[in-house]
Amino acid sequence: MDKHMRLRENKHAVDRVQPIVDAHVKQVQEFGRIVKLPIALSEKVCAHSVENLNQILADTMALRDLYKKHHWQVSGPNFYQLHLLFDKHYEEQAELIDKIAERIQTLGGVCIAMAQDVVELTLVPRPPKGREDFKVQIERLLQAHEIVLRGARSMAQHSEDEKDEGSTDLLVSEVIPHNELQVWFLSQHLFGSKS
Ligand SMILES: [Fe+2]
Repeated sequence: MDKHMRLRENKHAVDRVQPIVDAHVKQVQEFGRIVKLPIALSEKVCAHSVENLNQILADTMALRDLYKKHHWQVSGPNFYQLHLLFDKHYEEQAELIDKIAERIQTLGGVCIAMAQDVVELTLVPRPPKGREDFKVQIERLLQAHEIVLRGARSMAQHSEDEKDEGSTDLLVSEVIPHNELQVWFLSQHLFGSKS
């Protein structure tokens, strides 16, 4: 095959992989809409839980990314220990995110997924792009954990009242204890460090 023929073939290959998506492509389910599954919960209950879980998902995704930022940017006398700890917590938060998102889909909802969605929804404050002292990093993480925990406790109360045991169980058995444990591990690094 000569060079020109190869170039022509490549051009056709490129044409074939051109994306067809644009703003007008029809969605199979719009965000905020419930497509009921036969799980013996009313659409109203599912919609409530989906809305609440999307808030917890957004805050957890922000917390996960805060862990990776600090994993990369940490410095100081505990560098190696914190570098590893931040990544361990990142992985654990990523597992929680998957469970929360799949719970939303199980309820017939649509989970948020992209960074832009997180930015719109999360209550976790945006940190600066630059690096911060490890104590400030830990304080930011503790603040984000408390936002997640406050939301999770409040939602667990609602889902219990509405008899959505699956969501209550996810919050009470997974989200709350994992976040509490991570708060303990983090906060011990600040013990005795304040004047
Ligand atoms: Fe890494």
